[in-house]
Amino acid sequence: MTRSVTEWVNVTGDISIIARESGEVWFHTPSGLKDNVDPFATPMTGAGAAGSTIGLLDGAINLGFAGIEKCLARPEPTLAGYIVALVGAYHTSVDTPRNLRRAASRFNELGRPEVAAYLEERAREETGHDRLALKDLRALGMPGERLVANFFPEGLKALCKRFDDLCIQDYPIGCIGYSYCLERIAALKQVTDIEKVKALCPDGVDATRFLRSHSALGSEVTHVEETIAFVASLPANDRIRVVQETYESALLMAEGYNHELLKSEAEMLEELQQAVGEALLYRRDLRPSSGEKRGAQPAV
Ligand SMILES: [Fe+2]
Ligand SMILES: [Fe+2]
Repeated sequence: MTRSVTEWVNVTGDISIIARESGEVWFHTPSGLKDNVDPFATPMTGAGAAGSTIGLLDGAINLGFAGIEKCLARPEPTLAGYIVALVGAYHTSVDTPRNLRRAASRFNELGRPEVAAYLEERAREETGHDRLALKDLRALGMPGERLVANFFPEGLKALCKRFDDLCIQDYPIGCIGYSYCLERIAALKQVTDIEKVKALCPDGVDATRFLRSHSALGSEVTHVEETIAFVASLPANDRIRVVQETYESALLMAEGYNHELLKSEAEMLEELQQAVGEALLYRRDLRPSSGEKRGAQPAV
């Protein structure tokens, strides 16, 4: 009988994620145990399996978001918030193919053609996604290029910089963890989330191209499945780095998204108008609701 695979990764000083191939996942605090009685005190060295790898990766995302769980902003969706999200979508996707190709060429230099091939394939798949966000912005009457050139949502700067930095490292395996984090969270979006956004948009306007392709309806589910299979095939040291970076990216993502979501609708409108330099075309629809409540729904 073959033994079921157990994988583990220390992600913070005192928390390790442990995952079994059967799907069990738990967080482990090594304190108080002597190394010789704690089987998880030293890094794992064995082969991975899809069932345990997904437990580590998703455990890392859950842990990253757990820190802000209590203060997580959950505003009602607004059109202004959606436009800011589209600008963010543009910035998180515009450099992705270039960055992934840069990391791929480094893995070719390192004699790891299988990692390079995986990253090149990802780069091909992600090409043009920034254009989807621009098309959605234009569909909403926004001057897409001008808006994204003048506006980089503050909460996303650290996240985007992280990806840039990861892809130029001497050993850029962490970029896989970053990509997993973003794609896994996108793949959670369901048809009901898309319907909510459609309801915010003016009649006859289709501004959900990016959202659809980065949801359970689009290619993200396949990307996530392929990444899990690929990560499970990597040596233990690489899997450890990927899971650690998934956690670091989840932390940055949770903080960054929360920063944006905590803004009032009036603040978002102000930022958008400053970037565009003129009254917004859908000004009437975007007008903040009375009292400038956070996340208040615009009358569209
Ligand atoms: Fe994408
Ligand atoms: Fe993707």
